[in-house]
Amino acid sequence: MILVTGGAGFIGSNFVLNWLRAGLEPVVNLDKLTYAGNLENLHALKDNKNHIFLRGDIADSELISSLLTKHNIRAVVNFAAESHVDRSIHGPSEFIQTNIIGTFNLLECSRKYWSTLSEQAKQNFRFLHVSTDEVFGSLNKEDPAFTENNRYEPNSPYSASKAASDHLVRAWLHTYGLPVLTTNCSNNYGPYHFPEKLIPLVIHNALKGKSLPIYGDGQQIRDWLYVTDHCEAIRCVLDKGRIGETYNIGGCNEKTNLEVVHTICNLLDAQKPRADGHSYKEQITFVADRPGHDKRYAMDASKIQTELGWRPAETFESGMAKTVAWYLDNSQWTENVTSGAYLEWVNKQYIHAV
Ligand code: NAD
Ligand code: TYD
Repeated sequence: MILVTGGAGFIGSNFVLNWLRAGLEPVVNLDKLTYAGNLENLHALKDNKNHIFLRGDIADSELISSLLTKHNIRAVVNFAAESHVDRSIHGPSEFIQTNIIGTFNLLECSRKYWSTLSEQAKQNFRFLHVSTDEVFGSLNKEDPAFTENNRYEPNSPYSASKAASDHLVRAWLHTYGLPVLTTNCSNNYGPYHFPEKLIPLVIHNALKGKSLPIYGDGQQIRDWLYVTDHCEAIRCVLDKGRIGETYNIGGCNEKTNLEVVHTICNLLDAQKPRADGHSYKEQITFVADRPGHDKRYAMDASKIQTELGWRPAETFESGMAKTVAWYLDNSQWTENVTSGAYLEWVNKQYIHAV
C-alpha cells in the first residue's frame, strides 16, 4: 500500500484517481480536510476497496506511525500542505505548522518505521515530497528557466515554508539514509482546482457576472502544467527516480496572467456566450498587486525528460479547453465549494473588486 497525504485536495485527489485508474497498489489517503480538502473529489472511489480515506493531520505522530505499520506502507507521497500564496500573506502560521512541522513529523515517523523494515523492504521504501518552483524565487524575463541546481530564494511565507520542508527532506536522506525523492513543479491547472487560484477563480467569476481581478499589470509569468501530466510525472519519479534526487516538472507553457485570462474568456465566449453577446473580457478589472509578487517562474524540465522519459502530454491550448469544459460540466462542484469559508475569504481578499 502507499500512503498519500493531502489526497482530498486539488492535485492529491487527481493523483489518487489517476493512480487507482491505472490499477496500481491500494491507497491510504490521509487528509485533514481543511477548506481546501473536499471528499466530493473522491466520489468516484466510494465503492472502491483499494481506497481507504482517513481524516487526520500529518503533524499527528501517533496517527502517522500507526498508519505506516498497520498498512505496511511501502511509499509515502506527501501532497498535504497549505498551498495558497495570498492566504500565506494574510496568515502565515498555518503554513509553518503544516508545511514545516507537518513534513518534519511525517519524515520522523517514516524514518522510525523504515528502520524496522527488512533490508529488502528498506530498499524498496520511498518518501516522495511534492514541492514547488516557487522555492527558487523569481526570474527576470531574459533569465534561463530554473534547473534543479538553482539557489533557493523563496519570497513568500508559502514558498519559504515549502523551501524549509524541502531542506528537511534532504537532511533525512543525508543524515539517516531515508530513501527520499523531491519533485518541484510549476503551476498546475485542471479539474477540482479550488476557485481561490487564478484559473478556476476567473472561470467562476466570469460565469457569475463578477469582475475578473488581475493583480498589478497582469504581466507576471507562470509556467502552466495540466494536473494529469503532473500526476504522471510523480508516478514516473516514484517508479524510476534516483534516491535523493530532485526533479523539476514543468508544462513548457509560459504565459502572462493576462494571456491566461484572455484564453479563458475566449473559450467561454465560444462555449457559453454571455446573454448580452459581449465578451467576458469586459469583466477584467486590474486590482492592487500582491505584496512581493514574483514576476516570473519557468521550469527547465530536461532532467526528468532525459533521465526518466516523462514529458507533458497536454499543450496549454488542449489543457485549457479541457479545464473550461470540466468547469462548465461540473458547475455543482463549484457551487458546493464556493459557500461558507470561501465567501469569507473572497470578501477579505477582494474587498474592492468583486
Ligand atoms: P490544495 O490546497 O488543493 O490541497 C492540499 C490538501 O492538503 C487539502 O486537501 C488539505 O485538506 C490537505 N491538508 C492541509 N493541511 C493538512 C494537514 N496538516 N494534514 C493533512 N492534510 C492536510 O493543494 P494542491 O494545489 O493540491 O497542492 C498539493 C501539493 O502540491 C502542495 O504540497 C503544494 O505545495 C504543491 N504544489 C502545488 C502547485 C499548484 O499549482 N497547485 C504547484 C506546485 C506545488
Ligand atoms: P495563483 O493561482 O494564486 O498561483 P501562484 O501565486 O502560486 O502562482 O496565482 C497565479 C498568478 O495569478 C499569480 O501571478 C497571481 C495572479 N492572480 C491574479 O492576478 N488575480 C487573482 O485573483 C489571483 C488569485 C491570482
